[in-house]
Amino acid sequence: MPTPKIFVDACFGKETPYTPVWMMRQAGRYLPEYMAVRAQAGNFLNLCHNPEMACEVTLQPIDIVGVDAAILFSDILVIPDEMGMDLSFVKGEGPKFSDPITNESDIDKLIGGEEAASKLTYVYDTIKLIKTKLAEDKALIGFTGSPWTLATYMIEGQGTKTYNICKKMMYSNPELLHKILAKVTEVVKLYMEKQIQSGIDVVQIFDSWAAAIEPNKYDEFSWKYMVEIAEYLKEKYPQTPIIMFPKGVPAFLDKVYGNFDVFGVDWSTPMELAREKLGDKYVLQGNMEPCRLYSKEATTEAVEDIQSVMQGKRHIFNLGHGILPDVPVEHAKHFINECHRVSKK
Ligand code: CP3
Repeated sequence: MPTPKIFVDACFGKETPYTPVWMMRQAGRYLPEYMAVRAQAGNFLNLCHNPEMACEVTLQPIDIVGVDAAILFSDILVIPDEMGMDLSFVKGEGPKFSDPITNESDIDKLIGGEEAASKLTYVYDTIKLIKTKLAEDKALIGFTGSPWTLATYMIEGQGTKTYNICKKMMYSNPELLHKILAKVTEVVKLYMEKQIQSGIDVVQIFDSWAAAIEPNKYDEFSWKYMVEIAEYLKEKYPQTPIIMFPKGVPAFLDKVYGNFDVFGVDWSTPMELAREKLGDKYVLQGNMEPCRLYSKEATTEAVEDIQSVMQGKRHIFNLGHGILPDVPVEHAKHFINECHRVSKK
């Protein structure tokens, strides 16, 4: 019998001895050990491309803060990078693509499907290496950005506050936006399939920029593509749980549908509301406001509140978005310990 993984059991809504916990962006700059490996790599993309180093930073939060699952160290933007867009990370400014997509011939030039998915070998090698080192009772989460979140970077060329270039396309040339989304969706399906074949235990789809879309248009431009990916994977790999994380969409909760296992609740959505609307159908993950990590008292208060709503049933603890780089490691450990303490049966 293989060793059970509490995290995978919890994703399927099974009873577990305590509620498992991990943190979005748990492998990152708040850890001095991460900064040391990144310095050795020279820059962030080199780190993503180097399986030994990426494996090392993937495992750090397991050893240092005691989370129940590791998340593959990589970035969502390696996908458009391998589709032929030239990605760089400019210090202090975040990700940049030198030639954003503006028209149909730009889309036709992108490398698609199997050819693009096959170029991400360093990710698959990293997964295989992690699986040789990760304790058997811990799960490895693989991930992708949603087609919409990836498209925002591909169209804007960088992060944006207004999304005006992609929204101009959404309202004035929706067919063009759908063409990008469809092409990205095909790559993501095969990319996630290869991640599963390489050994990941759970899939998370990050729709970090979901809130940029008006609720009436959210299904058309984002959710339906995420569901298409989930359904493709579920049909072939029903034993691999899928987590959907659309950030900041409380107005869409009534309309959520699709074949997946866990709904990631962001910090702006009250857990009670999510439980009322979705708790019977999906396991819920979340959702402490990440800035509470600056205070141990504020952390304990939120963990107790979330526990009183979820009561250790059909729940995975997490932050409601990523941990920030200036959080003391001690406080991150406190969060994990508190999640385990309040939920222990
Ligand atoms: O620990 C983990 O969660 C795994 C690794 C991970 C990273 N990025 C590493 C990273 C994951 C899951 C991501 C996903 C990602 N990347 C998202 C979706 C998740 C979310 O937070 O909503 C997005 C939108 C990106 C795009 C991206 N990558 C941005 C905007 C930035 C710059 C932001 C910043 O904080 O500077 C990155 C870089 C990045 N990805 C870093 C890390 C650890 C920081 C790089 C560094 O300076 O070392």
